Amino acid sequence: MHIRSAEFITSAVKAAQYPPPDFPEVAFVGRSNVGKSSMINCLVQRKSLVKTSQTPGKTQLVNFFLVNECMRLVDLPGYGYAKAPKDVQRQWGPMIEGYIVDRPNLCGLFLLMDIRRDVREEEERILEWLVSRRMPVRLVLTKTDKFSRSAGMARVQALVKQTGLRAGDFILFSSKTRQGREDVWQWISSMTGI
Ligand code: GTP
Ligand code: MG
Repeated sequence: MHIRSAEFITSAVKAAQYPPPDFPEVAFVGRSNVGKSSMINCLVQRKSLVKTSQTPGKTQLVNFFLVNECMRLVDLPGYGYAKAPKDVQRQWGPMIEGYIVDRPNLCGLFLLMDIRRDVREEEERILEWLVSRRMPVRLVLTKTDKFSRSAGMARVQALVKQTGLRAGDFILFSSKTRQGREDVWQWISSMTGI
C-alpha cells in the first residue's frame, strides 16, 4: 500500500465523539502492550504518529487516524492491564465494546496476540463474540522478530490445534521487521474496498 497521507483525527470515549461514519474503518484490539499502536505506525510508515510505550496501558481512548484521505485505522485501548486503576479498567471494556457495536462503517478488526503467548480465555471470548456478530476478524501474531521463522510457523500450528481456526486466519507480524505488513494491507483493502 502506498501511503500518501496519515493523520490523527480525534480521540473519543463515546459514540457522540466519534467522527462521522463517512469512511470505512478497520480497528485493532488486543491485550495491553501487544503492539497495536506500533502496528499502526508500521502500517502508515511513521515512527510516532501513534504514541507507544514499554509500559502497558498507554492507549486509553479510541483514537482515529485517517489514511490517504479515504479510510481510517482505529487504535483501541488494550484490555487486561491489571495495574490500571479499577475505574479506568471498568471504563475500557464498554469503550471498546461500544465502538465495535455502534460503528456501522467498521469493516473489520485485527485481534492481536503476542506470538510468545498462548491464546487465553479473553481472546477466545472476544473471538467468539466477534464471530457471533459476523464481524470479519484476523488474528495477528505480533513481535515475530522475537522468533525464528520456523518457530513462528510452529506457533501457528500449535494455535491452529488450540483454537480450531485455520492457518490462513493468522497473520505473522512484526513492527520491527515489517513482516506481514503487505498481508495486512491486502486484507484491509479487501474489507474496505479501498
Ligand atoms: P497499549 O496501548 O498499552 O494497549 O499497548 P499497545 O498494544 O498499543 O502496544 P505498543 O504499540 O505501545 O507497544 C508496546 C511495546 O512493545 C513497546 O515497547 C513496543 O516498542 C514493543 N513492540 C511493539 N511491536 C513490536 C514488535 O513487532 N517487535 C518488538 N520486538 N517489539 C514490539
Ligand atoms: Mg496502544
